[in-house]
Amino acid sequence: MGRTVTITRIVMPGQTNRHGSLFGGQALSLMDEAAAIVAHRVSEGPVVTAHINSVDFKAPIKQGWAVEVTASLIKPGRTSMQIQVETYGECLDTRERTHCTTAVFVMVAVDKQGKPRLLPSARDDDDDDGDDD
Ligand SMILES: CC(C)(COP(=O)(O)OP(=O)(O)OC[C@H]1O[C@@H](n2cnc3c(N)ncnc32)[C@H](O)[C@@H]1OP(=O)(O)O)[C@@H](O)C(=O)NCCC(=O)NCCS
Repeated sequence: MGRTVTITRIVMPGQTNRHGSLFGGQALSLMDEAAAIVAHRVSEGPVVTAHINSVDFKAPIKQGWAVEVTASLIKPGRTSMQIQVETYGECLDTRERTHCTTAVFVMVAVDKQGKPRLLPSARDDDDDDGDDD
């Protein structure tokens, strides 16, 4: 529950490059947003982006097309989470769907001071390891 999030938008004129396709920074922003929602839900609090692995833009997503971004938790750590993010473009006229990017985001749960905080699952593990006396 909450470990996968999909955001779907239409590519608007203000979001495109000179070739009429989605600007890379806009794509990264949507990917970061989807990853942040998953991470916030999983960690039950605020998160920051610590790392994004290499991102290849394999195909353009044209103005007027739908851009669909899906983020899924693939590996929880102690305070960090690896989240895989896939981006697709869809020509709404033809319904043709094209894979654009895959990336892994590392999101870190933080406290009010911006310091890493334990994920609920790591807190449970620590409790299980505790002494009984
Ligand atoms: C992310 C941040 C909170 C980590 O703080 P830190 O004191 O360096 O934390 P630690 O070294 O204890 O690492 C905490 C966790 O994050 C992971 N981590 C930190 N930096 C990482 C990186 N560059 N790549 C992958 N994992 C990273 C660690 O492996 C660790 O994971 P674990 O607890 O699950 O084992 C800190 O670097 C920060 O605030 N960065 C700026 C974040 C930001 O502003 N992002 C917006 C985009 S610019």
